[in-house]
Amino acid sequence: MTTNKDVLLERIANKSAVIGIVGLGYVGLPLMLRFAEVGYKVLGFDIDQSKVDALTAGKSYIEHISADSIATARTRGFEATTDFSRAPEADTLILCVPTPLNKYREPDLSFVLDTMDSLVPYLREGHLVSLESTTYPGTTDEELLPRMESRGFKVGENAFLVFSPEREDPGNPNFTTRTIPKVCGGYSPACQEIGVALYSAVIDKVVPVSSTRAAEMTKLLENIHRAVNIGLVNEMKIVADKMGIDIHEVIRAAATKPFGFVPYYPGPGLGGHCIPIDPFYLTWKAREYGVNTRFIELAGEVNSNMPDWVVAKVAAALNTRKKAINGSRVLVLGIAYKKNVDDMRESPSVFLMEKLRDLGAEVSYSDPHVPVFPKMREHHFELSSVVLDAATIASYDCVLLATDHDKFDYTLLKQHAQLIVDSRGKYLEPADHIVKA
Ligand SMILES: NC(=O)c1ccc[n+]([C@@H]2O[C@H](COP(=O)([O-])OP(=O)(O)OC[C@H]3O[C@@H](n4cnc5c(N)ncnc54)[C@H](O)[C@@H]3O)[C@@H](O)[C@H]2O)c1
Repeated sequence: MTTNKDVLLERIANKSAVIGIVGLGYVGLPLMLRFAEVGYKVLGFDIDQSKVDALTAGKSYIEHISADSIATARTRGFEATTDFSRAPEADTLILCVPTPLNKYREPDLSFVLDTMDSLVPYLREGHLVSLESTTYPGTTDEELLPRMESRGFKVGENAFLVFSPEREDPGNPNFTTRTIPKVCGGYSPACQEIGVALYSAVIDKVVPVSSTRAAEMTKLLENIHRAVNIGLVNEMKIVADKMGIDIHEVIRAAATKPFGFVPYYPGPGLGGHCIPIDPFYLTWKAREYGVNTRFIELAGEVNSNMPDWVVAKVAAALNTRKKAINGSRVLVLGIAYKKNVDDMRESPSVFLMEKLRDLGAEVSYSDPHVPVFPKMREHHFELSSVVLDAATIASYDCVLLATDHDKFDYTLLKQHAQLIVDSRGKYLEPADHIVKA
């Protein structure tokens, strides 16, 4: 007898499976491109009509994804829609929706749950649901499984469920969706087999783990590892600074050790959708088990204090020039959360700009990746990116390097700035007008 599993495996193998991807953002869009590239028809779902319209017109809304690549996917059958009643056309439903924190810094699963609730009426026999959004261990089988079962499905027999965390690193030229190994954990062995088959069709190396919980925890370990080590190096930076030692020189020297040391770099604070947020998914869930995640909390505390530390450095540097922050013209360089991307989510630069503005500075910014300060839920600036030339640079009391994009002309900045506060260790040679922060 042919089972739902056999049918789906066969459709994946002969590429007749239609790949449904729900949430067409930084994660969902590259995944769509990869499935389209190897010859699958992809049906993309999003609640944002403007994104669906852009994609339908062959346009991109993410800087590092070209319009050409979207247009090519369109010629290969890619369609985007806001109509969830089309879910039965797809064989897989891969969920790539946001998992932020609420204002109490607790997990906000509303996007995942809303998405699943919108899909539940349209689930059909043979569907594979794969959650990719970063979340706490237990989400897949505590939240998604019961919703699938509420429709009478026997998950593992006539419908399938896996968790497979995304590992996108936007702006990193060394890796593509295809070459980043992908972890996958299934609710049952049959779910696992299908999940591995699906991702193996487009990704060079799929790493199976024994359960959805193990897969969820794997993603958190990766990101917590980064958050804690960045916290450590930020603390080391403060100690080194007090001792008159350049932490960047120390890191470069330590990184020559060929084993047992991994370099992490200090900065003005954590940014992005993942590292400042994901650790608190585990913190929250661990409480249910009576466990305190002390490393995570401590790293969060150190990292979230970094913008204040940088602002204090700006104040001190201006002070030595007989100036105050109040009334000074300050140019913040780089407002995306990391170099060479246009993503502003949780960017520490925005916190720096707000703190400086609150202290009375006249704040401007320059970022070749963000021409106009975007609308953000909690932050508001009516600003456009300043074009950098010698006279403009010289007109600011202080230039604060927050995000070290490759596109900046660091020599020009050094030649013409009155004062540079460098929070990224970009300037190696000491100079009277450069202060490391
Ligand atoms: N951006 C990254 O580099 C990255 C890396 C690894 C993991 N992740 C994780 O992947 C997940 C998605 O992140 P992202 O960066 O792609 O987010 P994003 O905000 O770029 O994209 C999410 C998309 O989902 C859509 N959406 C929201 N609610 C929806 C709903 N109910 N139904 C359908 N679509 C909906 C939004 O309109 C948006 O287009 C998060 O859990 C994130 O932590 C992100």
